[in-house]
Amino acid sequence: MKIDILTLFPEMFAPLEHSIVGKAKEKGLLDITYHNFRENAEKARHVDDEPYGGGQGMLLRAQPIFDTIDKIDAKKPRVILLDPAGRTFDQSYAEELAAEEELIFICGHYEGYDERIKTLVTDEISLGDFVLTGGELAAMTMVDATVRLIPDVIGKEASHQDDSFSSGLLEYPQYTRPYEYRGMTVPDVLMSGHHENIRRWRLEKSLRKTLERRPDLLDAYDFSEEEAQLLEKIKKEG
Ligand SMILES: C[S@@+](CC[C@H](N)C(=O)[O-])C[C@H]1O[C@@H](n2cnc3c(N)ncnc32)[C@H](O)[C@@H]1O
Repeated sequence: MKIDILTLFPEMFAPLEHSIVGKAKEKGLLDITYHNFRENAEKARHVDDEPYGGGQGMLLRAQPIFDTIDKIDAKKPRVILLDPAGRTFDQSYAEELAAEEELIFICGHYEGYDERIKTLVTDEISLGDFVLTGGELAAMTMVDATVRLIPDVIGKEASHQDDSFSSGLLEYPQYTRPYEYRGMTVPDVLMSGHHENIRRWRLEKSLRKTLERRPDLLDAYDFSEEEAQLLEKIKKEG
């Protein structure tokens, strides 16, 4: 995957050199280029200006961003504008982005954008209902969530298929060695070696956790017969 990021603060992206995203770059599965659009500003490196009609703060000017996008060599990129008013990012959005070959992220700053910048973009995406200082932290989060879904980035594909939200349910509880820690032991079923019982226990725990914490996810969930029966049982047990 090829990713181009327009930002006034390329140095903020150092965390993407590490962990899974860093390894994806090393393996040649990912190529990220940072474009400081201040370098393309015609007016003495001015990237911002006052809003027409008055008002607080400064807006990003259209010219530096248009010219930077013009210079990027991309065939059919998905162009993403980081904006708190955009569609909220989630796991299914990450899956959509992971299927693309070219992504361009535009990180805002100051009070926002000249509206004409939005004619360049295919998607306006928000990280959530809060306001960040700039789009950099949001872009980093989205790149991380997306890149780990690219085939071969994570060793075993199964390691993200069971993640919360990937299946539509929250993940079941997990344990590792030792068997007993500070008086707390691992549930017997996980020690039994009985694969079918373990699968059913995990499914029940996933359904129960989702029902308790995120019942909204169940509204959109496509239940198998087994899952529907298990959920009924969980509801009856309370
Ligand atoms: C201080 S914010 C501007 C907020 C803008 N005045 C508003 O009310 O929508 C500056 C930039 O940070 C980024 N940003 C802030 N909050 C964000 C969020 N929740 N998701 C994605 N990007 C965000 C956007 O690029 C935004 O243009």
